Formats: sequence, C-alpha cells, structure tokens
Amino acid sequence: MSLPLTIHTSTTTLGFNRRAKSPSSASKRPAYTSCQSQNDSGDKDHLVDRRNILISLTGVCGASTTLGNVAVGAPIKPVELGKCHLALDNQIPSTSDQKVECCPPDFSNMPIKDFKLPKSYEALRTRRPAHKLDAEYLAKYKEAVAKMKALPKDDPWNFYQQAQIHCQYCNGAYDQVGFPTVPLQVHFGWLFLPWHRFYLHFWEKILGKLIGDPTFAVPYWNWDTPEGMKIPAIYLDESSPLYDKYRNKDHYSALFDFKYKYGDPNPPTSESKTIITNNLRQIDNFFSEGKRDPSLFMGHPVLAGELPENDMGSLESLHNTSHMWVGPTEKPQWDMGNFHTAARDTLFWGHHGNVDRMWHIFSTFRGNKPEFKDKDWLDSSFIFYDENRELVKCRVKDCLHTAKLGYTYQQEPLPWLTVRRSYIKQRKAKKRSAGGDDSVTQVAEFGSETRDLDTTIRALVKRPKSDLSKDDKEDVTEVLIVDDITIVNEDEHVRFDVYIAKATEGLVSADLGEFAGSFVYIPHNQGNKTEKTKTLLRLGITNLVEDIEADSADSLVVTLVPGIGKVTIGGVKIDLVPVPVPEEEF
Ligand code: C2O
Repeated sequence: MSLPLTIHTSTTTLGFNRRAKSPSSASKRPAYTSCQSQNDSGDKDHLVDRRNILISLTGVCGASTTLGNVAVGAPIKPVELGKCHLALDNQIPSTSDQKVECCPPDFSNMPIKDFKLPKSYEALRTRRPAHKLDAEYLAKYKEAVAKMKALPKDDPWNFYQQAQIHCQYCNGAYDQVGFPTVPLQVHFGWLFLPWHRFYLHFWEKILGKLIGDPTFAVPYWNWDTPEGMKIPAIYLDESSPLYDKYRNKDHYSALFDFKYKYGDPNPPTSESKTIITNNLRQIDNFFSEGKRDPSLFMGHPVLAGELPENDMGSLESLHNTSHMWVGPTEKPQWDMGNFHTAARDTLFWGHHGNVDRMWHIFSTFRGNKPEFKDKDWLDSSFIFYDENRELVKCRVKDCLHTAKLGYTYQQEPLPWLTVRRSYIKQRKAKKRSAGGDDSVTQVAEFGSETRDLDTTIRALVKRPKSDLSKDDKEDVTEVLIVDDITIVNEDEHVRFDVYIAKATEGLVSADLGEFAGSFVYIPHNQGNKTEKTKTLLRLGITNLVEDIEADSADSLVVTLVPGIGKVTIGGVKIDLVPVPVPEEEF
C-alpha cells in the first residue's frame, strides 16, 4: 500500500533526515546544563539521555526515581478492566464529592487479544475536511452517528459509552497496574497522540460497521487552513445527530483565535487577517521547533507509576485551546470544555481528526521514523473494544503509521508552510503603524524568588551560548524553560503566553516580541496527592532566535503574559538540549 502524502508545495525543505552524529561532531557540543555531561558514557541509549534531562530539570542529577518501593520507569500497562471505579470531575462544584460514573459495561470473562494491523488489501479510509464535505458523505456520517446513538445504552458501541472511554482515561477511573494510588492519565504527555489515534480509529471502524461501509472515514476539522478556522457548518445544524448543545454559541460564526482564553470577546472581523496569519505562524513554529526535538511537539515521557506533570507538547496545548474555545464558558463546561464529557460532542472527533492529522504530517516530514525510540513509549499499551466486538490490546508501536492502520488524510494545502514571510511583513507593518514609540525600559533578571504571574513579567534570561554555529544547531536545540510552575487552583483552567525579544544592554522596547508558545491547562484528575503539581513549560526557540535576528545576543528578554488561572513561576532559563538521533524507519 502506498503512503499518500498530505503535502503540497516544497515540503522537502522541511524534511530533516539528520545525518547520524559522528563522534567528532558530538565532541563539538557545548556543555549542557543537564546531567548529560556527567553521565555520558559514549554510546548511550536514548532512554538514558532523556531521563538525565528530565532529572536535571528537577535539579537532582543521578537520583533514581522510586515511588513507594516500586521502581518507576516502564511502559504503561493496560488497565484491569474489572477494577474500574468512580472517576473525578473537578469542574463540578466542589460542594459535591465530584465523583462521576464512567465505567464501561461488564467485560469480565472476555478474552483480550493482541491488536493486529489490518491486512494491506483491506479498504483504505480517507479522512476529509469537514468544511468541504459533500451532501452524500454528510448523509452517511449522520446516519452512522444516529445509529450509534440509537444503540442500547449499555452497548459498548453506543455513542455515550464511547464517550465514557474518554472519561475513564482522563478522569482517573483506572489505577495503573501495580500502582493502586496512581490513576492512568493519557493526556499531558507523550501518550496523548497514540492513545487518541487508537480511540478515533476504533470509533471510526465501529461507525463503518454500523452503516456497512468499511471505507467510511470520519471528517476532520481542518483548523490549520483559513477556511477551516471556524466551526464547520456540519456541526451547527440543530436538527442533525452531529449537533451538541453544550458549546459556546458566540463562537458559532467566529474565527478561532489560537490565543483564545475564557473571557475573551470575539475578535473584530477587521482583525481576521492578522489572526489567521498568527494562527498559521503558530503551527509553522511548532513544526519547525518540533522537528528538531519531537518531545517539544508531542509531549514528554510518562512512565508506569507516574502521573503526567502537564509537560505536554505544543500540539497538545494548542489542542487544549480548541477545547476551551468550543466548550461553554459556564462551569462545569460540558462537553468540549470538560474532559469528562468531551467526546459527547461530535466536534471532538473532528477536532481529534485534525490533531491526528498534524501528527501524521509531522511523521511524514520526519520520514516516518518513530518520534521516540524509547521502549517505555513504544511498548506502552491500552485496551479497546473494537469493531469486531472484541477486546484488543494495542501498543503504541502499532499505531505509528496511519496507512498501516488502514487510513489516510485527503491531500489538502498546508498554508502554514509558507506563512513565515507574510508573517514577518505583517509584524513590520504593525510596528510601523504603531508609530515611533521607541521608548525603552530596563529589564532585570528573573531572580531566585518564586513569583506570582498576576501581571506581565519581563525578565532578562542568559543564553548558554550565543552565535551557535550550524554544527551546534545540528546537535542541540535551544529550549526556553519556564520552570517550577505551580497551578494554584488545579480545578481551574490556566493559560499564559510567552514571548521572546532582543535586548540591547538590558534595554528593551515596549513591544513584547515574538510569540514563543503558551501554557494551556485543562483541569483534570491529579490523583490523591497532597502537594500541588509542579510543572514546567519547554519551548523550542532555535528558529525563533534566528527570526528575531538575536543569534549573537548573550541574553533574551522573556515576557510572560498572564491569561486565566492562578500560577506561580519559579524561574525562567534557556538550555541547550541534545537533538535526539532519529530511529530507523518503522
Ligand atoms: Cu482526550 Cu481532546 O482530549
């Protein structure tokens, strides 16, 4: 089966089959701030690399991680279905016990088989953009969803049962095998993309079964193209089975601004062009930083026995923004605004179609090499109830190639690939029209004290090395780290944005500079822990530094702009993180 590319234009410039590192190029690496240099023993496993980095970020080089007396650090195991218990929805007012029922029907006595990839001669499903769907296809989709909604309530294929699965894996209905106090959480880290890929795959296969069409594919919400940056019309017809009433109706005809946070008014239409360009630029930026280091795009490790520390990738945090933008503003923000119920809105499935498509494109650009060669990722596994009414155990490594799962995405233009120039033009024009405000202010370092992010914080941050050579950039990624983030109220949504700018001798203009990324948190079950979760935000800035012509700067001015939710910040720093050597094609 051939692999159709979803790419127009000159994508080869974005391909990045990196040359394998020779010992000599490795020796040219600058000293890292991680524990790497202390533990480096030549030919190491990537696993060691990233744990050193992980540990160094918390400041304990050489420490081993244990939880009770069980060593942490193995692939996530499939849950024990029989041990499902009440879940927690912490968006429900805390006057109740916040417990919710979302366990599946009784599967006891059902064998669990290993998931098998479909045979290559089976039908290839092609997912298409929702805003371009023809009437015939739409009718098919509506019929399938209507059939799914009409199934008996306790049928695992039933629409609401399918949505419960999302609650089970986000709101803590299962504890991890061997870790009775640690819920399995598939969001906020590197499990996010694979788990949702399987989830959508089975949902689609079941729909296909219900209408007797194995080629049926779920349409996706093509929000990475200007015509797709609003809710597609197919979801807005109140008489359709695709409709869901729990949404922010103000957004039914508004442009989806990727910088949205609760409380923002709809942007004025005169701003549309700017917002579209900024949106596209955000995707372009995530891709160009992520291609250097996939964890920046896809999220950071979550191992057996761990709860993710919200150390998610840029794709997941943008995905969170869309959940906020669609969901209603009143708590508990059913459906899209609340993971407990998110999958009850068909727009969830359209949204995840595009999230999955972004990953598919990302993989294609990387020559279909696994993003992490770490077995803790590849062998992590989940159980799904499939289109043959069987329980199957699916491993991450089984889902890395969409064509092997039997589906692909219709080829669509990728306008973000070429947005950089118009973005820079737009920025310059804006600066000009803002008039000659060349007043500058002195910016100090962040300091060693933890600070509340309740007003904009600007800090001068030292770069480990300026004037990185081409070779350096082959070896390391420059990463901006907002460290020790504490979410003061874990029941609240959080968003803040990060910008970088050039400074001259500590002086910077009023302009915030370039958008580098954001922290977007959606409340979820954090287990029964007593201390607040500390997390961090990592943003790749290698290309951004070039864009703002700050290669030779010793320091950058980092600006943190509070949005919603209370957070404290422990520090801001810039690290050089080794570029992982990609694995062979899978
Ligand atoms: Cu499981 Cu869009 O989240």
